[in-house]
Amino acid sequence: MKKIALGLTTVALSLSAAISHAGDVEVLHYWTSGGEAASVEVLKQEMVSAGHNWRDFAVAGGGGESAMTVLKSRAIAGNPPTAAQIKGPTIQEWGDLGFLSNLDSVAKAGNWDSLLPDVVSNAMKYEGHYVAAPVNVHRVNWMWANPEVFKKAGASIPTTWEQFIVEAKKIKAAGFTPLAHGGQAWQDATLFESIAMAQGSKFYNDAFVELSEQTLRSDEMISVFDTFKQLRDLVDPGFSGRDWNIATSMVINGDAAIQIMGDWAKGEFTAAGKQPGIDYVCYPAPGTSGSFSFNIDFLAMFNVKEAGQQAAQQDLARLILEPKFQETFNLNKGSIPARLNMPRDQFDSCAHSSMDAFLASSSTGDLVPSMAHGMAANSMVQGAIYDVVTNFFNSPSMTSQEAVDKLARAIKASM
Ligand code: GAL
Repeated sequence: MKKIALGLTTVALSLSAAISHAGDVEVLHYWTSGGEAASVEVLKQEMVSAGHNWRDFAVAGGGGESAMTVLKSRAIAGNPPTAAQIKGPTIQEWGDLGFLSNLDSVAKAGNWDSLLPDVVSNAMKYEGHYVAAPVNVHRVNWMWANPEVFKKAGASIPTTWEQFIVEAKKIKAAGFTPLAHGGQAWQDATLFESIAMAQGSKFYNDAFVELSEQTLRSDEMISVFDTFKQLRDLVDPGFSGRDWNIATSMVINGDAAIQIMGDWAKGEFTAAGKQPGIDYVCYPAPGTSGSFSFNIDFLAMFNVKEAGQQAAQQDLARLILEPKFQETFNLNKGSIPARLNMPRDQFDSCAHSSMDAFLASSSTGDLVPSMAHGMAANSMVQGAIYDVVTNFFNSPSMTSQEAVDKLARAIKASM
């Protein structure tokens, strides 16, 4: 009896040593699809193994619009979570409001300055201080295709948007849905952005980063809208409001041929046990093979009062940059690690091609921030673009000329 009691005391002592800095982390995110949930589970397990208590605050809704609404109301109520999945210019907006906590000491100890590409580390600093930790780099300009459907329809993988429309018509004639799409503003914007990228990186940056009125009203932009409208005939009648992962499952099941979507879609193929190059193929979106539209997921850290929570928050930031986490999370998520010089052997051919394109495009000026995923412009401008793009896609009578006019006006009004 004595022995047992002693044993229990020893266990209790060693447990309390392990969790002497234990604390709660409440993490707000919108990773709720199969592949996404598997990815976030990796982080949860890491935190639990480090002795912390994970409180999951998942707000469903691809692209994160609903999550951002919830985050705002929690912050206004004076009760923000420990960490939230936010990115790009939005991190700056939260920094301006004084909500974010300083991670400089974790960053220094972990040597983040030399581990991360500039494009990543610049986005996660507010006034020169680290306030967020990056879990990945997503490439947005991807095309996911079911080779079996292509074969049955006698169609070839398109490399330009003109060819896309020709091949898609063959697929439609063969009785399949050419383009798996979900009619939600952020998905419309994702498609639109990939079409715009095919006009070149200078055009893309002038339009969505510089917000140049001349570019927004240009003939090239009119032709982007023209192509976009043609794709409206290539989706199925049930597309309205559909979630992105349901659209991915249409390609997985062989009901549809193609989805234009960032590589979180690969997470769905992986979760369904599908192999790249066999069950599905990945190609850059037409006309964008040399470019890379980047979308980096960060967990930004919010000011928390209690010492245990602060310690847990610093630990969360540290663990996110660990090579093991970066590898496992990204194998599930479909993205590539945010850290440089990670071993590549566990990753598949789509990830290799993303890694190569990331490096190559960084030196050619073709690494561009995703407008649709909040990396290019602030949330007001992004919202203005979403509105025009979605209205246009769903308004048969709106001309491309009217659309560019609305786009230029809406952006000007939101700047
Ligand atoms: C993106 C986000 C990805 C993925 C996707 C669908 O904006 O960066 O991590 O979750 O939305 O929700």
